[in-house]
Amino acid sequence: MTTTAQAASCSAYYPEESDIRISGEEARRPYGIRAMVAQTSTQTRPSRFGHMKLGPARAEFDNFAKDYRSLHAANIRISGESPEHFAEYKVRDISALTGNDGEQVSRILDFGAGIGASVPYFRRYFPQARLTCVDISEISLKLAESRFPGEAKFQFFDGRTLPFSDQRFDLIFAACVFHHVDHAEHVSLLRELNRVLKHQGRLAIFEHNPLNPLTVYTVNACPFDKNSKLVTARVMRARFAAAGFPDARVMYRIFFPHILRALRPLEAQLTWLPLGAQYFITAKKL
Ligand SMILES: C[S@@+](CC[C@H](N)C(=O)[O-])C[C@H]1O[C@@H](n2cnc3c(N)ncnc32)[C@H](O)[C@@H]1O
Repeated sequence: MTTTAQAASCSAYYPEESDIRISGEEARRPYGIRAMVAQTSTQTRPSRFGHMKLGPARAEFDNFAKDYRSLHAANIRISGESPEHFAEYKVRDISALTGNDGEQVSRILDFGAGIGASVPYFRRYFPQARLTCVDISEISLKLAESRFPGEAKFQFFDGRTLPFSDQRFDLIFAACVFHHVDHAEHVSLLRELNRVLKHQGRLAIFEHNPLNPLTVYTVNACPFDKNSKLVTARVMRARFAAAGFPDARVMYRIFFPHILRALRPLEAQLTWLPLGAQYFITAKKL
């Protein structure tokens, strides 16, 4: 739900958005439903990211785009690490996995890319690959493009149908997106990701682990997680299977804060332990 302060900061940064308010019943709708209100509107307007449908509400993260990094940094301060640390480890994990398996990765989709936190790391670890970032928050995408011009293609997504032909990507990545999506939509969204993934392509999703008490505490304190609902790896694995990814593998990640970083080499032995702060779930399209 949007607070007055968040709405005010959004208006100050994007004056053209100043007449857009989420209020009353609209503000109380779960996030996925709010996004769908926008997508069911019949009015459209052209935008740099495609033809965008106009509706009475905007995506929730439009309200957080400007302050997203600083809110995130403040929220994870207890870990002693920066948002960049968390963005990088995810892409490094995928690079290690795909490299070990000798996978060819030439087209990558960053699904729910937000303000582009992962973009520099895809450029670093997959320098030859073409990167496409999609999100339902157009303001986040605008910001991502201004932060990383020319580093990726930034494309708006209506929340339901990805604007791509079948079997387009070798790798699809989503970092901390699914807990912001209505759980009833998870399987259909995973099927849509399956559609645009090549055969033998890889889906790689990182999520917060609700079995870790510190994660739950941190999420509860985070302004942009207010409407989110965490999902366990076990449930996510069942949803992968229902969407045509029967062989998903789960690895738990992030066991030690910065102050205990000397112990981090042990984390490679702990990926089975469901106490990591986050988890990585990945599967290939058969
Ligand atoms: C917590 S942010 C994470 C952003 C980015 N992945 C990162 O690691 O910084 C969640 C993002 O998911 C996006 N999102 C939420 N629902 C979505 C959906 N149905 N499809 C695509 N993106 C979605 C939000 O707009 C937001 O940018």
